[in-house]
Amino acid sequence: VTRAAVLVVAATLGLAGCQGVDLGIFWQLERMVLQPRYDPYGQSRFFADGRAMRTPPDGAVVHRAAAADDAALADVDADGWVARIPVAVTPALLARGQNRFETFCAACHGFDGRSQTRAAHVMELRPPPALDEDRIRALPAGKIHRVIVAGYGLMPSYAAQLDAHDRWAVTAYVRALQLSQHVELAALPAPVRAEATQALGGGGTR
Ligand code: HEC
Repeated sequence: VTRAAVLVVAATLGLAGCQGVDLGIFWQLERMVLQPRYDPYGQSRFFADGRAMRTPPDGAVVHRAAAADDAALADVDADGWVARIPVAVTPALLARGQNRFETFCAACHGFDGRSQTRAAHVMELRPPPALDEDRIRALPAGKIHRVIVAGYGLMPSYAAQLDAHDRWAVTAYVRALQLSQHVELAALPAPVRAEATQALGGGGTR
């Protein structure tokens, strides 16, 4: 046999090895990656203008207003952090924030944000801080938003799980948790104040 023939046989065996053993499961998995679909900015043979991305019809509005208020975004502190939440903080935003917080943050930070969780307990190196401690309460809204997007130290980023709308929703809910632990009695609406006073046994200012 010539050297070339040996090479051909070896190469064929090599390929057969790959395909024979792996193709089944490989194909099952790749099916999802390789299915026909349009990518952003891709070409389309279906639409006359050849563009896969379509212009929204006239009068279409954004389904979930993620757009932040420009004036609020311009309101930054000395370090350049956005000082306040730049979207409207509504009951719906807070409800969404609670839902996302309890889904993605509570495992470590707890439902009350105090970070007394099993997960926190085993993170000996740098346990998650209580989100209502003074230092974190003093953080500007933009910094909390940044921690969510970029992660912080040992905490991973949650950018993949939370879109633009949800990031501010969670930020707002963190603020609500902080407030719930530190509100002055006098700041509560009368009926809630009465209830709280009773629950506190008549005394206390917090
Ligand atoms: C896997 C556990 C874990 C999850 C889940 C988690 N965190 Fe954290 N978080 C940490 C740890 C640990 C730290 C402290 C990191 C460090 O100091 O290195 C931290 C720190 C923080 C801080 C303080 C940052 C600072 O400046 O000190 C904030 C705010 C925070 N997390 C918010 C969140 C929010 C909001 C979510 C949900 C989107 C979340 N975390 C999810 C573990 C977690």
